Amino acid sequence: MNNILFIKSSLNGEQGQSNKLAQQLVSNLASTSNITIIERDLAKQSLPHLSQAEMSAWMTQPNERSDKEEKLANVSDTLIEELHTSDTIVIGMPMYNFGVPSTFKAWVDRVARAGITFSYTENGPIGLLEDKKVIVVAARGGIYAGLEKDTQTQFLKDFFSFIGIDDISFIYAEGLNMSGSDQRLEAAQAVIDNFTN
Ligand SMILES: Cc1cc2nc3c(=O)[nH]c(=O)nc-3n(C[C@H](O)[C@H](O)[C@H](O)COP(=O)(O)O)c2cc1C
Repeated sequence: MNNILFIKSSLNGEQGQSNKLAQQLVSNLASTSNITIIERDLAKQSLPHLSQAEMSAWMTQPNERSDKEEKLANVSDTLIEELHTSDTIVIGMPMYNFGVPSTFKAWVDRVARAGITFSYTENGPIGLLEDKKVIVVAARGGIYAGLEKDTQTQFLKDFFSFIGIDDISFIYAEGLNMSGSDQRLEAAQAVIDNFTN
């Protein structure tokens, strides 16, 4: 059994290029084996910015939480549980204003939990998630891959490594708001069709 967590954050719903391309990949992966898919659309169900009250709820023992704290802690607990039950995390990743969508950052802020997804040791932090892989399908209006301006790629590598996932692959669809976008899109679709998990 292979469980996929499919995370999307395009503002453009079904028409979002990152959503469409990542969906193509998920459908391909699902056609080759018996796969369960958990879908998390961060644009549809946007998470608020992380608050002190929410972090404080995390640090309160479950049996000592108030109803409000229980509800707050439940948000992060649910997202982390989705990570725990998945083997492969497919991310449809639009570039918005040179970075990841703020809704995705709100997800990151809730799945990085000391003692649960990473731990501090005398040699620095270590990631606690094991045996998982991430595939990022990155859609961009401009062209950045391999350039200094592509801070998105490094951020995603650093973040997933921090929680214990070093197996991360990127598929880029770039220049989608430039002339020649049709050919670039077709090239990205071909890469997805040839992608082996
Ligand atoms: C609010 C916003 C900000 C954007 N910022 C950038 C950017 O910084 N760099 C870029 O290459 N494209 C940028 N784009 C274009 C998207 O990356 C492009 O539309 C791509 O298809 C991914 O978005 P989508 O999955 O929503 O279609 C931006 C689009 C929006 C809506």
